[in-house]
Amino acid sequence: MQRSNYVGIEYWISKSIKCPESSSSFIRIGQKPVVPLHFNFNRLIMKTKMPKRKLGKNGPEVSALGLGCMGMSFSYGAPKDKKEMIALIRSAVERGITFFDTAEVYGPFTNEELVGEALAPFQGQVVLATKFGFKLDPKGGPKWTGLDSRPEHIKEVAEASLKRLKVDAIDLFYQHRVDPDVPIEDVAGAVKDLIREGKVKHFGLSEAGVATIRKAHAIQPVAVLQSEYSLWWRKLEAEVIPVLEELGIGLVPYSPLGRGFLAGKINENTKFDSTDFRSSLPRFTPEALKVNQGLIDILNTMASRKNAAPAQIALAWLLAQKPWIVPIPGTTKLNRLEENIGAADVEFTPDELREIEDASSKIRVQGDRYPEQMEKMTGR
Ligand SMILES: NC(=O)c1ccc[n+]([C@@H]2O[C@H](COP(=O)([O-])OP(=O)(O)OC[C@H]3O[C@@H](n4cnc5c(N)ncnc54)[C@H](OP(=O)(O)O)[C@@H]3O)[C@@H](O)[C@H]2O)c1
Repeated sequence: MQRSNYVGIEYWISKSIKCPESSSSFIRIGQKPVVPLHFNFNRLIMKTKMPKRKLGKNGPEVSALGLGCMGMSFSYGAPKDKKEMIALIRSAVERGITFFDTAEVYGPFTNEELVGEALAPFQGQVVLATKFGFKLDPKGGPKWTGLDSRPEHIKEVAEASLKRLKVDAIDLFYQHRVDPDVPIEDVAGAVKDLIREGKVKHFGLSEAGVATIRKAHAIQPVAVLQSEYSLWWRKLEAEVIPVLEELGIGLVPYSPLGRGFLAGKINENTKFDSTDFRSSLPRFTPEALKVNQGLIDILNTMASRKNAAPAQIALAWLLAQKPWIVPIPGTTKLNRLEENIGAADVEFTPDELREIEDASSKIRVQGDRYPEQMEKMTGR
């Protein structure tokens, strides 16, 4: 048996034995203690346990992996069928995911509405994160036109997000991008007011630089930073992660599968149509994808040794970096959701982590992650 927690047991049983309707047994899992299991096989999935992680000193406790919901409505092609996505989000809850990520700008609005409707039956049992800070098209179009973190605007967005999410308080409210026209102290002050009023529980930043993180934290403790981090984007390691560690701020890596690339199913022949954001990214040109396959070779090698999938290795590598890191892979498919959840059961020895480090340090990843204008909106 490869995996070590209840989710793993489910895979193992479903693959290895014909299970009776119900059963009661004791199973030893690797070196872990004997675990008593009393289950009805058809309901076993309801009893799966996902490990939990605390997002820094001030953040919430959540499942070790969250679910990024953006791609269900935005960024990667046409919005997906709402009923199917609601079912998918609820399947994630059944499988132990308690952390869900959305934003005002995803849609805009429709992704928050979707997540709010899907999670309404689970209020108080899940942690819902959303983001403010983009200036939306005044004509109601799908594209944002700039940034807007003026305190009065943050408060308007909070009221509207509360309604769309169908909650009394937003568990985690991130500034989506630092707004150079509004001092971060004013932004932190606005969120502090919302926390005092009970409308927000935790403050987060996204793609902020270290000076901004420190200034914001001095006004209202920052619980979480959400920024891109994965085997093909490691810029955070130099300055940001040490500051997060010092201040006790949790890290939520977004695009932890490199927008799908690190799952190993995308290559230079993959076509992205114009509705897919990846068609505009330098890192997704055929030339870059071809060179970057070297990373997939590393993931595949480790995956076959660990009897896992490359996506699981990419996510487990992030989990292995710090105990206060919680990746939020996005998917619109149940089988991939289950695969990604399985990453929580993949553990590396120090030698295996060194091997990934050594091999990946020899790869020069090709292509910028964002077009220039969007990259300029990060790290400040
Ligand atoms: N703060 C920010 O600025 C920011 C920016 C980007 C994203 N985010 C958040 O981070 C979340 C995750 O990031 P992301 O969606 O950009 O990238 P990601 O999680 O790295 O990758 C998502 C892509 O990978 C594919 N995928 C997922 N699991 C897979 C598997 N096991 N095997 C093969 N393919 C798989 C998905 O396709 P299918 O849907 O077809 O499975 C989708 O195209 C978003 O949903 C959003 O909430 C935040």
